[in-house]
Amino acid sequence: MTGRFELDRRLPDGYFTDALHTDVLKGLTGRPKSLPPKWFYDARGSELFEEITRLPEYYPTRAEHSILGERCDEIASATGARTLVELGSGSSRKTRLLLDALLRHGTLEAYAALDVSADALREAGGRLRPEYPELKITGCVTDLESDLGLPSDAPGPRLVAFLGGTLGNLDGDARPAFYAALRSELRPGDALLLGADLVKDPAVLVPAYDDAQGVTAEFDKNVLRVLNRELGAGFDPDAFEHVAVWNADEERIEMRLRSLRRQAVEVPALELTAEFEAGEEILTEIAVKFRRAPLTAELARGGFGLRHWWTDEEERFALLLAEPVPGR
Ligand SMILES: C[S@@+](CC[C@H](N)C(=O)[O-])C[C@H]1O[C@@H](n2cnc3c(N)ncnc32)[C@H](O)[C@@H]1O
Repeated sequence: MTGRFELDRRLPDGYFTDALHTDVLKGLTGRPKSLPPKWFYDARGSELFEEITRLPEYYPTRAEHSILGERCDEIASATGARTLVELGSGSSRKTRLLLDALLRHGTLEAYAALDVSADALREAGGRLRPEYPELKITGCVTDLESDLGLPSDAPGPRLVAFLGGTLGNLDGDARPAFYAALRSELRPGDALLLGADLVKDPAVLVPAYDDAQGVTAEFDKNVLRVLNRELGAGFDPDAFEHVAVWNADEERIEMRLRSLRRQAVEVPALELTAEFEAGEEILTEIAVKFRRAPLTAELARGGFGLRHWWTDEEERFALLLAEPVPGR
């Protein structure tokens, strides 16, 4: 071992407290009510997401893993990356395929994992550190909606991976802002590896977000537990049911928590009483599904040229390799 896994925090002290207060106040007083998905991921939420990735209904992880398994050597030789940066890295489980390929290729020196969840970063870093003693492994707690936190001093070329279909948690307004922020931090020679879930039959999509064992329901309700702990809120998770809906117009899954009765929930840290009608919903996550032409076009508008588009055999999921277009 070459030392401890280092966890860096780039955001100012109090950032997450302020962001949670702002998000929850806005989300619970808005119409319809909503909460951003980043608040799912405390230690328990990150564990539940890992459980979701192993569910029979949740095909995206297996599909993306199979593409990575097939293409990782091609990705390594196309990018020659000396640093792998991963946004929303979570457990970094699939990342091992990329780390191994880039090490076989002989270029990789560093892996920087970036996530909103300090718990997920600590857990993943603790496991990776002894497995990859030759690599400089760092973790950074970031909010990719505010500051991507790409390590600017890391050796280039850098390959930035954004896997798991997390791009789909951003709506049509947030994605261009994300591409612009990323594009502004990339240099010639850097590359983007993007995992995108594809439009398919709702009979496959909906169960992936509403599994028979109820793990996704627990994950969804975890945000209420986070609000209870962090804001002293009085949510009874059993007074809400998890629903997953295919929004055909927007081509996205929407996860919602539906109030089972009329109720008022106190949120003392915000001096707020959130009133719910029976059946009223909180939108807790969107998962946009993509098609090749529009996604390629929005990447081009964001300053990225598509180099490769790979899918799994059943064409459920796509992995894209793109590069920043010079002069943008
Ligand atoms: C759908 S999971 C994907 C995890 C992993 N990349 C995978 O493919 O299995 C989303 C990940 O992004 C992280 N995340 C969510 N919102 C974020 C934000 N605003 N900034 C940084 N990370 C975020 C979560 O903590 C979680 O690890």
